[in-house]
Amino acid sequence: MNKILRDSDFPPLKNDLILRAARGETVEKTPVWIMRQAGRYLPEFREARKKNAFFTVCRTPELACEVTLQPIDRYAGLLDASIIFSDILVLPQAMGLEVKMLEVGGPHFPDPLKTPADLDRLAKSVDVHESLQYVFDAITLTRTKLDGRVPLFGFTGAPWTLMGYMVEGGGSKTYSKSKAWLFRHPEASHLLLRKITDICVDYLVAQVKAGAQLVQVFDSNAGELAPAEFEEFALPYLLEIATRVKKELKAIDLDVPMVVFARNAHYALESLATSDYDVIQVDFTLSPSFVKSKIAGRKVIQGNADPSLLYANPEKIRDTVEKMLEGFGTSSGYIGNLGHGMYPDHDPEHLKAYLQAIKDCSIERNSK
Ligand code: CP3
Repeated sequence: MNKILRDSDFPPLKNDLILRAARGETVEKTPVWIMRQAGRYLPEFREARKKNAFFTVCRTPELACEVTLQPIDRYAGLLDASIIFSDILVLPQAMGLEVKMLEVGGPHFPDPLKTPADLDRLAKSVDVHESLQYVFDAITLTRTKLDGRVPLFGFTGAPWTLMGYMVEGGGSKTYSKSKAWLFRHPEASHLLLRKITDICVDYLVAQVKAGAQLVQVFDSNAGELAPAEFEEFALPYLLEIATRVKKELKAIDLDVPMVVFARNAHYALESLATSDYDVIQVDFTLSPSFVKSKIAGRKVIQGNADPSLLYANPEKIRDTVEKMLEGFGTSSGYIGNLGHGMYPDHDPEHLKAYLQAIKDCSIERNSK
């Protein structure tokens, strides 16, 4: 068991804007960070990746720290949070499955779960401190090296999204193999989802003990499900993760904001609005008015411009940001981001224009 690290074990925080916004407090400007802000669109990231395989970067705290800090250095004063460089698929690896990151094609499981009998191939129990210690070490090192410039996010994939990768063996157009499990083998599906949920709870709690100041749960494949299946196989586990993580942290006098991202699952917003999460990340298919009508002030919202906006010129980017901020509001209840992660062919200067526009427009609106 690792030592519990607290605020006093790290350099003092100089920018707590996102923490205040996540708690629903009034802010002078809109905090912003970007999913996949450390990624292939950055030349310095591509340079670091030339020398090291993807999972080598994840498993080497010094390398994970280096790439996590790249966007913080480049966009100094414009980003309000960092997110530890890792991947949601380190959890299936900890459960005993091999995962490769192909240069072309992304994640690949050479031997995915094909039938319920394959559940026997998974580790009987997973001690996150044994199999994922490198993530906790990367978090502790990165929070120290951040020197209080911005808070650090930890994260996990959600049970349904991870089950999808473990059964499909990678990404998929239809998710028909993993969805077939839900319809054909509901009990085995619940067994697997339960197992993943328990590990997610331990994993997030340990990330916070190691220094993570916020955590996000990525249910990137939530929208592949019809509402009834989402309610049976995804939602209960998402809700349980927030409740249990909050409770376990409270018992050791720790408390961090939790963010949930149920991508493309518009039907999930009302249930998530009554959950124990503090912040709901929304994808780019949802308009501010729709989101606000469902959430009704009960949670802070994070998002949500289409990442393709970053292909536009700076004027168009600024106009769109103005409308987005008008829709979500700037004095409280909102954290800027995109509706999905950065793409490899994005121009870093256009991201800068997006971040600058959020900062400038929100300051302007709040001073009126
Ligand atoms: O900056 C950050 O956001 C932190 C690091 C991070 C990565 N992946 C790095 C990464 C985070 C938070 C993730 C989460 C993740 N990983 C999700 C959830 C978010 C989402 O995108 O919906 C998912 C579904 C994955 C699984 C995954 N990892 C996929 C589908 C891919 C391939 C993507 C592609 O564009 O090819 C990855 C690889 C990956 N994870 C990259 C990065 C920077 C690019 C690969 C590389 O560097 O070679």
